[in-house]
Amino acid sequence: MSGTQIRKVAVLGAGLMGHGIAQVCAQTAGYEVSLLDVKQELVDRGVAMIKDSLSKFVSKGTIDKPKADEVMRRIRPTTDLETALEGAQLVIEAASENPKLKVDLYHKVSELMSPKSILASNTSSISITLLASATKNPENVVGMHFFNPPQLMPLIEIIRGAKTSDATVDSIKAAAMQMGKETVLCKKDSPGFIVNRVLMPALNEAAFLVSEGVADPEDIDKAITLGLGWPMGPLKLLDYVGIDTALSISDVMMQGFDDNKYRASPNLREMVRAGLLGRKSGKGFYEWPSPSTTKAKASP
Ligand code: 3HC
Repeated sequence: MSGTQIRKVAVLGAGLMGHGIAQVCAQTAGYEVSLLDVKQELVDRGVAMIKDSLSKFVSKGTIDKPKADEVMRRIRPTTDLETALEGAQLVIEAASENPKLKVDLYHKVSELMSPKSILASNTSSISITLLASATKNPENVVGMHFFNPPQLMPLIEIIRGAKTSDATVDSIKAAAMQMGKETVLCKKDSPGFIVNRVLMPALNEAAFLVSEGVADPEDIDKAITLGLGWPMGPLKLLDYVGIDTALSISDVMMQGFDDNKYRASPNLREMVRAGLLGRKSGKGFYEWPSPSTTKAKASP
């Protein structure tokens, strides 16, 4: 397999996905990692989530304490974009799911990064071709979609933009393998790619069931976990990935396909307006004691 040899990765965004991606890069692939966010408190929160996750792996014996310390040493937190990009052969963007914000970021990153480096987006649904069009080297831009929690979920979707080169796709396949992940290739840059195209309508439908008063959240989740064997019910999963993220994905799919079947349930929009974003804000359909937990309790 040809392509770029990766030693250092810059992860842009230290949130629910970014912190986990940085951890996988440092822990499984053994890459040097810089972890960027726009504010120190956001970087600190990302680092705290990595420490929390590593302590879970240590407590169940998956890794030992010296290995966890080594992983932490490989991760350099920063709030400076130029510092983050320095020496990185692979840049993984895990910023908020907002097309305008991402396009602005791609302009800036493209000015600062090496023209030979790869710029991979962890976007859940936004067009890779659109993001690539904001850069000087669209052949080096690709979708690299991880799943939450990146530390545990074994899949990466690779998405080809209109100008993505074969060498870039090969490099991302090799990097994913180094991270211990399986890959699938999304040959066309289509809104929601493969997984979210299937998942989001189901999550959205569960939100409609709540807004129509058909059943309580706990019963909807119980029905789907016990009836369909999902590890988490759809409303818990909405909270887990972030109501704002899910709404953005639905909106991108709605606009991209111009089809009402992707119209977001109105309660999702209301929840975002009210700051009820799920796990990351402490409350959504459920109450969440911390952003790194999987345990939620019913909202009173
Ligand atoms: N790091 C390390 N270990 C972790 C962890 C983390 N971040 N989170 C959980 N764990 C460990 C726990 O310590 C626990 O270990 P143990 O079995 O040794 O006690 C184990 O994972 C299981 O965790 P829990 O018992 O707390 O909870 P669950 O049994 O429910 O498992 C889960 C958690 C693996 C997240 C499981 O619920 C699951 O698979 N949920 C569905 C996740 C999913 O669908 N993800 C995709 C979402 S879509 C997406 O991301 C796309 C995006 O674009 C929106």
